[in-house]
Amino acid sequence: MMANFLTRAGTGLQDWFNERAPSFGPFYRKHMTEYYAPKNFNIWYIFGVLSMVVLINQIVTGIFLTMHFKPSAAEAFNSVEYIMRDVEWGWLIRYMHSTGASAFFIVVYIHMFRGVMYGSYKRPRELVWVLGMLIYLVLMAEAFLGYVLPWGQMSFWGAKVIISLFGAIPYVGGALTEWIMGDYLPSDATLNRFFALHVIALPLVLLLLVVLHIFALHEVGSNNPDGVEIKKGPKGNRWSDKAPADGIPFHPYFTVKDTFYTGFFLLACAFILFFEPTVGGWFLEHDNFVEANRLVTPEHIKPVWYYTPFYAMLRVVPDKLLGVLTMFGAIIVLFFLPWLDRGKVKSWRYRGTGFRAALFVLGICFVWLGKIGAGPGTDPVETVIGRVLTVLYFGFFIFLWAYTYFGWEKTKPVPDRVTTHD
Ligand code: HEM
Repeated sequence: MMANFLTRAGTGLQDWFNERAPSFGPFYRKHMTEYYAPKNFNIWYIFGVLSMVVLINQIVTGIFLTMHFKPSAAEAFNSVEYIMRDVEWGWLIRYMHSTGASAFFIVVYIHMFRGVMYGSYKRPRELVWVLGMLIYLVLMAEAFLGYVLPWGQMSFWGAKVIISLFGAIPYVGGALTEWIMGDYLPSDATLNRFFALHVIALPLVLLLLVVLHIFALHEVGSNNPDGVEIKKGPKGNRWSDKAPADGIPFHPYFTVKDTFYTGFFLLACAFILFFEPTVGGWFLEHDNFVEANRLVTPEHIKPVWYYTPFYAMLRVVPDKLLGVLTMFGAIIVLFFLPWLDRGKVKSWRYRGTGFRAALFVLGICFVWLGKIGAGPGTDPVETVIGRVLTVLYFGFFIFLWAYTYFGWEKTKPVPDRVTTHD
């Protein structure tokens, strides 16, 4: 009786919408129930959805923080303390936002690494990759702006160091630095504009890019751990004669699977939030619990962990301009991955040993550079190691190009259909 009523109400609502917005139904089907995703997706394929979960968390907690935060140099620090001590559940909202920032980079770095493992940046998904890289750039800017807002010691001095990097640009550097800060030092004007950019401008850009990223992916279809194009394989499955035989509807199959894993992810985040919210100074640095003071420089100025691999490159290169170019170059080179890698085989399961070894070395370089960048930067041996790692990092891209361009790669035979052994 009740079920009958609900079915009738549901159909009625559907008809009501169809009459008024006939394109909603096909849109929903194209992206959900008739988006046929490869059936061999493994755990590496949940990190896109987890990035979306964290993005939503950042927006929602950000809105609540904005209700109590005061974007002025005189009041910002105290307003954050007020949120932490006096606002009901304020401590949780703040830690959810600060832990969320690190969680964002953890899931995005894994998501990017998965892309390289399975060659997801290769034709026809170059646009998906380039849009992803744009997201990554905006995300870095967004996190940097956010870190300045609490107006702690590291907010102030971090902002000063990073903004002064623009001073290394010949001729215009000095004027540009002043223009960015609206002053000669990070000040009230800087905090105000960073607030505007952090709470509205960049989140809008980020959301737009994420939508484009998903649309671009849904045009060509998802890659998978075997790197075989299911659209080129046989047609016909339980749901449609025209759909790829190796594809299953995204909804409900992957929505259920993603929700299940999201539960685990949220549990891990809750563990951090309730037991170790600053993660020993890695997620929120100790110096940032001290109010900004332009007369006292912290002993070691260093950015949060997700920037430290690039920060290490900046520090180990002796010349400032060259250091800045190396640091930005290390990010920009990633945009060109789809064109540097000429190999036909996508997934590392079937790629040559050279590729697997080089990717392993790249991973080590990234983590080790991250560790060096987080240290004081005073050990000369570490500086030399940092230089070697920087060369190896760029070496990966040169090697990958040569390895695939000159046909040195010995690949394994790629199966015609996806395998489901994972
Ligand atoms: C806010 C950040 C991001 C969000 C919300 C996001 C979201 C997603 C989602 C939902 C998918 C489909 C599910 C999956 O394959 O995991 C996806 C796929 C993909 N993303 Fe992202 N992404 C983000 C950042 C990035 C970045 C930084 C890159 C790389 C530079 C990237 C590259 C890719 C690629 C290549 C695919 C296709 C994967 C495949 O089909 O194998 N994404 N993304």
